[in-house]
Amino acid sequence: MNHFLDIHKTDPAALRSILDQARAMKDARAGQLKGVKDAETPLNGHMVALIFEKPSTRTRVSFDVGVRQMGGETLVLTGSEMQLGHGETIADTAQVLSRFVDLIMIRTFEEESLLELAEHASVPVINGLTNRSHPCQIMADVMTYEEHRGPIAGKKVVWVGDGNNVCASFLHAAGAFGFDMVVTGPQPLDPEKEFVDLARSQGASVELVRDPIEAVKDADLVVADTWVSMHDSLSTRERRHNQLGPYQVNAELMSHAKPDALFMHCLPAHRGEEATNEVMDGPHSVIFDEAENRLHAQKAVMRYCLGV
Ligand code: CP
Ligand code: NVA
Repeated sequence: MNHFLDIHKTDPAALRSILDQARAMKDARAGQLKGVKDAETPLNGHMVALIFEKPSTRTRVSFDVGVRQMGGETLVLTGSEMQLGHGETIADTAQVLSRFVDLIMIRTFEEESLLELAEHASVPVINGLTNRSHPCQIMADVMTYEEHRGPIAGKKVVWVGDGNNVCASFLHAAGAFGFDMVVTGPQPLDPEKEFVDLARSQGASVELVRDPIEAVKDADLVVADTWVSMHDSLSTRERRHNQLGPYQVNAELMSHAKPDALFMHCLPAHRGEEATNEVMDGPHSVIFDEAENRLHAQKAVMRYCLGV
């Protein structure tokens, strides 16, 4: 049984074959829509629970649609409407759900909740975002980069802003996919040292650079995310805005990257804060391809987990 808990916990060869399958399914789907091929339904007879303890648009819709496209069925549950939100333990929840469903995707707060669920579930568990990581997003992002520019190996990926959960998953992916990272932001919002050390131990170059212009020089990919994540206390908003203001991705900053650099943002965005409309809607931006590729990448992740 394969869980999908984090990029660095999944074998690099498996990550690559997930992306190959995602690409093949995306192409097949395009063919099906033109009436070329019969739909593949490897999740026929499978029930997937999608648990959300935080809001979501992309993760919720892409998993739900992805399961249905593969012939399976979904139960979308929010933490507050489950007994989980009223004191039932994660371990008991995991064992009960395992009697009913074939796969569990969870978006939650603490990483420990995800790990405890996986430990006690007898079906595979997928990480749909925790305070510390967002692996499904980075599978879609690597897929998107490679669709537009070919292999990501050897490329310079620059993360601009808060060294948050999405940044962490990029660091987890750097070694496995062979790209280098520069993270630029204020020192108090640096990514956790553990993630930087892990990427370096896997052979990736990781630099922390304070000056955003210096950081994006020769970048192949520039990535931004919200300045205040769902798990951040709103009381930190003003401080974060002051700290991160100099790290806005605008056309001037993008002009220091390579001319054919891509711009990514996992969305949802606060337009005019971490990135301007000019960049979000500009020639470098592939933000909606990223969003679409959540669907294709996650369909392949689910097949990997279920072995179908
Ligand atoms: N990028 C992402 O995970 O979006 P949602 O919060 O809408 O799921
Ligand atoms: N860093 C953001 C990502 C949202 C998809 C958050 O955790 O809120």
